[in-house]
Amino acid sequence: MFKHAITRQPGANYQDGLTTVDLGVPDLEKTLLEHSGYLTALKTCGLAVLELEPDLRFPDGTFVEDTAILLSDPQGTCPQGTCSSPNGGAAILTRPGAQSRLDEVSEMKDTLLAFFPEVAQISAPGTLDGGDICEAGSHFFIGISLRTNQAGAQQLAAWLVARGYSASFIDIRQVAGILHLKSGISYIGDNRLVVIDSLAGHPDFKGYELIRVVPGEEYAANCIRVNDYVLIAAGFPKFEATLRKLGYKLLVLDMSEFQKMDGGLSCLSLRF
Ligand code: GLY
Repeated sequence: MFKHAITRQPGANYQDGLTTVDLGVPDLEKTLLEHSGYLTALKTCGLAVLELEPDLRFPDGTFVEDTAILLSDPQGTCPQGTCSSPNGGAAILTRPGAQSRLDEVSEMKDTLLAFFPEVAQISAPGTLDGGDICEAGSHFFIGISLRTNQAGAQQLAAWLVARGYSASFIDIRQVAGILHLKSGISYIGDNRLVVIDSLAGHPDFKGYELIRVVPGEEYAANCIRVNDYVLIAAGFPKFEATLRKLGYKLLVLDMSEFQKMDGGLSCLSLRF
């Protein structure tokens, strides 16, 4: 069970952030409304939500997920004595792969120290974005992407293994249309992995029940399981129907202004 989320409100210069898609310029008022809907959804899931102020130095700063990997150990898999926090959790700051986002982590460090007694850090030459990290129970898939390099992936894997988790690398550099690994896969519990077609055949996903996102609905692959709910993006009726049929309780959120900036549901919070 997650108890907390850390979020950051989009700033007035949100539209100056990075994007690889061509969906138009985001509307700030609508962005803020969508963000507010997201916060409400997290609270509906029972989370205490920390709402950080916008930081105009970082137009992409609302995508807080990229700054850290947090272990809340909800599965109780962290062997006793190996975690750095009394509640079984642990934290590591990333080293974002985009130059304009590198210093987002300094700001996040102080925030994390309020929850975790120690905060580790990915170091150069490693780069790593949280969006490339998919936790699936006691296993972590680590995407190798244009943002996360081999050195960063190896540092994170070593840190995870030292805490009783396993990790494997998924190279997405040749997969068209996704910025991060979690643009193309999500773990929603129950041994189920949501995947886009181009990742469905990956041998590392063999042991999971795959929920395939149909062509045209790829953006929906970035969804998040938060306690009793799955948060999904609005506008993807086939995916929504599939999850409803499987019995999931859904919170369906308008994400249009975040999609324009290569952001998804997972990107907007750190959950632990
Ligand atoms: N706009 C999100 C990112 O490129 O990191």
